[in-house]
Amino acid sequence: MIKLRRSAFLKSAALAVCTAGLLVACGGGSDGGGGADDNVWSVGTEPAFPPFESVGEDGELEGFDIDLMTAIGERAGKTVEFDSLPFDGLIPALQGASIDAAISGMTITEERQATVDFSDPYFKAGLAIAVAEGNTEIATLDDLEGQRIAVQIGTTGAETANGVPDATVSTFDSAPLALQELANGNVDAVVNDAPATLDAIATGNIPGITVVGELLTEEFYGIAMPQGSENVEAVNTALAELIEDGTYAEIYRKWFDAEPPEL
Ligand code: ARG
Repeated sequence: MIKLRRSAFLKSAALAVCTAGLLVACGGGSDGGGGADDNVWSVGTEPAFPPFESVGEDGELEGFDIDLMTAIGERAGKTVEFDSLPFDGLIPALQGASIDAAISGMTITEERQATVDFSDPYFKAGLAIAVAEGNTEIATLDDLEGQRIAVQIGTTGAETANGVPDATVSTFDSAPLALQELANGNVDAVVNDAPATLDAIATGNIPGITVVGELLTEEFYGIAMPQGSENVEAVNTALAELIEDGTYAEIYRKWFDAEPPEL
């Protein structure tokens, strides 16, 4: 069911080759998004954000978001085709309608709501500060003043870090890269979604770091769609059904080994 689509970049590269006439036969295929195929939802995601979305050892996408979106598609009678995109490219892709939706641990924010529509919330999260193990100087947002902070570009973590007075903020294409910068000792802290940072620590993917203090924010993830998308209702109906019939809880337990909180 899950098929990792070529990235939009590879696709345009392939198209360019086709137009150049270097290949005799070029596949037609769905152009993904824009409703070329009514039974397919092209869904963008930035798959370096476990346990929500990542590329498994078998090369297939996996994670809470992947399972949830696939189940939503099934419930709505659609085949979901995932499209790997940079996180900060998801909203532009929705605006250009080159994808039908994006699921990527994306927080519902007022700013984003000005350009895209969101489904009902499907996950409760929040930002947390990570520091090197043994760093006792940093526990709160105020403590980050004047410090070096690494973040993932285009995220709520980046926005929060950018508001810290006198901080030096370095941005990375993915959250693991920002966390690795911290593990390497090149920055003092990372501001990132708590569940993703905790997963990186728990799995041993990023050694030598720890989460400190309280959550900085309460954030809710939503599935983003182009503004005015006709699919918002179908997505919300399917999501509500999955919550109601226990499928959502099953997926939640699989990835978080815990009962889901009230949304
Ligand atoms: N929740 C944060 C935001 O919306 C970070 C999401 C990052 N997601 C990802 N797949 N890299 O900005």
